[in-house]
Amino acid sequence: MTLKGFVDKAAKDLSELYPEAEAKSMAVRLISYCLEVPEYAYLSVPDRKISDTEQQKLDKAMTELLKWRPLQYVLGFTEFGGRRFKVREGVLIPRPETGELFEMIIDDLSEKGLDEGQEFNILDIGTGSGCLAWSLAAELPGAQLFGCDISDEVLKIAAKQKVKNAEGSVRRPVFFWADVLGVPPAGLPQFDIIVSNPPYVLESERLQMRPNVLDYEPEMALFVPDEDPLRFYKALHSWAGVLLREGGICYFEINERFGSEVAALFGPDSVVLQDINGCNRFVKYIHKV
Ligand SMILES: C[S@@+](CC[C@H](N)C(=O)[O-])C[C@H]1O[C@@H](n2cnc3c(N)ncnc32)[C@H](O)[C@@H]1O
Repeated sequence: MTLKGFVDKAAKDLSELYPEAEAKSMAVRLISYCLEVPEYAYLSVPDRKISDTEQQKLDKAMTELLKWRPLQYVLGFTEFGGRRFKVREGVLIPRPETGELFEMIIDDLSEKGLDEGQEFNILDIGTGSGCLAWSLAAELPGAQLFGCDISDEVLKIAAKQKVKNAEGSVRRPVFFWADVLGVPPAGLPQFDIIVSNPPYVLESERLQMRPNVLDYEPEMALFVPDEDPLRFYKALHSWAGVLLREGGICYFEINERFGSEVAALFGPDSVVLQDINGCNRFVKYIHKV
């Protein structure tokens, strides 16, 4: 089979499960990563033959994808903020909105000159793969990152990420176990920034979700009970009261349905911000004592 032949067939097969554009994009990314060719190779060298070994690798991956296993788990990694992060079952696949949150924080901190090496502390609550903690550490040489999570499994993965920046020297985040629904562990420093993308999908929103998420991604990373949608933001508010320095800033990702409620919880020094699709997706709060 040729590169173009494979992409056409894989895209058609995957379109039984996914919308056409998404199916095509998965087929293109699959061939690019499995065969280590650029994503445009199926257009620039459409007749390039796929060897038997390559075909076996692709067939194995397609069998998994057609069982709704997410592409990122099949490949064993995902891209976030221009870097690669290991992911596997048990750890949430970072979403594009969280990539926007990362960019927003970097833009804000560059305006304050905090990307130039001053020492400061950032805490990432519910760190998952560690994508935010590591990406912020890579861009902010003066920052000491801390990342916590309730899952021992994700903490192992977060600690094992291999992340580089242009200088090749990223200061390792400190990863530790904590339950944000309890009190913060003793011995933590004061923080200049607290960031979190906590579970915020309502149980009732399951109905709109596909098997690639529901059957493979960790429930504890996603859902909150309908009767307590602000559960994690109430906990974050109390952690911020204890751990955030005066003038410190919180950045949270939120369910688009609860922008005003989350902002009300944090008071007049908070603001709701939209994502690239115009949905209320983030709350930023400046801690004035
Ligand atoms: C939406 S995921 C975010 C993961 C990662 N920060 C990202 O953006 O891709 C939420 C994370 O919160 C963690 N979590 C869930 N309940 C928690 C709790 N009570 N205390 C601390 N972390 C919790 C989950 O294990 C999961 O890794």
